[in-house]
Parts: sequence; structure tokens; C-alpha cells
Amino acid sequence: MAKEEGRKISMLTAYDYSTAKLMDEAGIDAILVGDSLGNTILGYEDTVSVTMEDMIHHGVAVARGAKTTMVVVDMPFMSYQTNEYDALVNAGRLMKEGRAGAVKLEGGRSVCPQIKAVTDAGIPVMAHLGLTPQSVNALGGNRVQGKSVEDARNIIEDALAVQEAGAFAVVLECIPAKLATLITKKLAIPTIGIGAGNGCDGQILVYQDMLGMFSGYVPKFVKKFADAGAIMKEAFADYKKEVADGTFPSEEHTFKIDDEVLGKLY
Ligand code: KIV
Repeated sequence: MAKEEGRKISMLTAYDYSTAKLMDEAGIDAILVGDSLGNTILGYEDTVSVTMEDMIHHGVAVARGAKTTMVVVDMPFMSYQTNEYDALVNAGRLMKEGRAGAVKLEGGRSVCPQIKAVTDAGIPVMAHLGLTPQSVNALGGNRVQGKSVEDARNIIEDALAVQEAGAFAVVLECIPAKLATLITKKLAIPTIGIGAGNGCDGQILVYQDMLGMFSGYVPKFVKKFADAGAIMKEAFADYKKEVADGTFPSEEHTFKIDDEVLGKLY
């Protein structure tokens, strides 16, 4: 196991076949089909409107591209919070129809019965604590979590509880680095950090963030590993120009026909 060997786990989000294929070829350890697709792909303000159909549609596309990389698919808002039965049925759909290798759900002690029910059915569950975007309205916005003694203790208790309930890993989002390190030391299962410092067992980023594909607000914890957004915009503008001035398509991108054949067409 990576944690026991001290090997850090690299995770990224992906939502489509070709991006998943590139990540698979780059040797990324695991891909999350995050419900962040509500923001990154569908243009919603938050993740609350994302449906099971959205997750299945994108999950199966990613699974086709990820030949060796493990694929985790997010359980969308209200697909598991209601009760264990709903959690089980919907996790099962994400496996059967969405081709997920594992599912992820947000929350601690309050969703432990669901984690237990789903893992007991043989479906691996990744938990998600700290800033949990599906509860953004209850958390009072996108802020760092676990800064007070009470909040930090709650996150620690939740982390121990989701491990006990059967989660195989836990995402720690937007919590102080020293708290994430403490939790990582307390847990036998790996912690995957996003905005949680480098003391976690692994890291995850939303791929459009790390590729610089958004021109709006980017959280402090995001490192831009490439400026793909600028490269794409420049390529789109070049294409527009070449179409407009007739330099694209040139001979090299054009199919030929024998003049003899052509002569018989008039
Ligand atoms: O939906 C998502 O992309 C996530 C990551 C930010 C962990 O849950």
C-alpha cells in the first residue's frame, strides 16, 4: 500500500475520455470524476444541481479512457444523504452504469451508516471532509475549515469514524496543513489533500485549475502547472484568423481527386 511504503498518491479530476486517457498515460494514480463537473463542465454556480445521470454520463466516458488508472466517481447531492438504501442503490448504479472503481461521498459521522452499507456491499468508498462543497450553504461559503478547537476536533472525530465505517481513503479539503498532518498520522487509511498542505498521503486538484483554464477566481491552494487556457485561446484566435483569410485549410490538409475523374463530372 502506498501509505505504508511512504509513496505519495497523485490524483486529478477528469470528466471525459480524452483527458482521462492523457492522465492514464502520464501515470496519475487515480482519477476522480468529481461533481465539480457542475462548475467546470456544466457552468453551474455550485455542485448542488448535479444529477446521477450527469455522474454516470461522465463516469463511463472517463472509465473508457483510464485503462489502468483507478476511477472514483462522486455521489451527487442527495443521492446518499437520505438513507442507506438510497446510498446503496445509487453507489451500485455508479459502479454498474458509470463503471466506477470506487465512489466518493461527503460527510463524517452523519453518513457513516451509508459508508458501512455501501462498503459492506463490496463497493469501495472514499470519504471527503473539511470543506465539503455540497454543504457550502451550511458551511457559510468556501472557507478554510477546522481552525477552532471544536471544529478541528470534529474533523478528527469524523476522520476516525469514516475509517471505522470502512472508507478506504479520505479527501481533506481546505483545512490547515498541521491539522491535516495530525489526521494523516492518526489514520491507517490514506488522506488525499486539496488545500490541506503536503503532510497528506496524496494530493488532488481539479484539472482545469492546475492547467490554468479558468480566468476567474482560483483558490490559493491551486498551483498552475501549465497555462493551457492561454495556449487554447491563442490557438482558437489563430484558427479564426486563418479561416477568415483563407490560409486554412492549405494543400497539406486537403484531399485530391484525379483531373480525369473531375473532367467527367462537368
Ligand atoms: O468534485 C471534486 O472535484 C472534488 C475534489 C475537489 C476533491 O470533490
